[in-house]
Amino acid sequence: MNTAAANTMGERTTGLRAILSSAAVYDLLQDALGSTRARRILVADYLHPKPGQRVLDIGCGTADMVRFMPAVEYFGFDPNPAYVKTANERASSYSAHAHVFCDRVSTATVAQHGPFDLVMSIFVLHHLDDGEALQLFRTAYDTLKPGGAIVTADPAFAPGQSAIARFLLERDRGLHVRDEAGYRKLPGNAPFEDVTTTVRHDLLYVPYSHCIVTARKPLTS
Ligand SMILES: C[S@@+](CC[C@H](N)C(=O)[O-])C[C@H]1O[C@@H](n2cnc3c(N)ncnc32)[C@H](O)[C@@H]1O
Repeated sequence: MNTAAANTMGERTTGLRAILSSAAVYDLLQDALGSTRARRILVADYLHPKPGQRVLDIGCGTADMVRFMPAVEYFGFDPNPAYVKTANERASSYSAHAHVFCDRVSTATVAQHGPFDLVMSIFVLHHLDDGEALQLFRTAYDTLKPGGAIVTADPAFAPGQSAIARFLLERDRGLHVRDEAGYRKLPGNAPFEDVTTTVRHDLLYVPYSHCIVTARKPLTS
């Protein structure tokens, strides 16, 4: 158990990490580390968004993902009010239909805005304990159209990963970094099909490992 101070969002909040709560600082650091490259890969290889689709972004942060998507109907929520303000401005400039609101997985009332073709939750699960992470997949299932998909991506411990990656992961802001098996069990709270997990070591410019989870809601349930 680490002893670093943590807030209610499952994040370490001491020292430099406190500065990351600023939307502008968060965006700058993400770009420097290679977040742009990571997001392009996630969109091209896993999300496959189509113009006009209804997309939900859980834990959307500053809605950085919209920069890499075609014109979709974008819905997002996040518990950080500063991120939500930036996200609303950014999403509205990329999409004619954008709605971002302040909420968290455990209290989310997003069903009223569904159903969605695609649900994404990028770099979020490692901030959530197992209870809330399982709930995230249940919320996705309940709000997806039949045949719709959820895609998540998070930092991951992995056998054989570089010592630098492990060093950085152990200091990540998220308190719930898992290994592939830990992420794999999270969709199990709902009757998804085609569940896949992929571990990649090449999403960022710095040595780091991620686990991407994809799952599909059956066409008939
Ligand atoms: C590393 S950031 C990723 C943000 C965004 N998805 C992106 O791609 O840049 C993690 C986000 O998860 C959000 N978060 C933390 N706890 C959450 C919860 N319980 N429910 C929803 N979002 C949460 C944080 O506020 C933060 O914006």
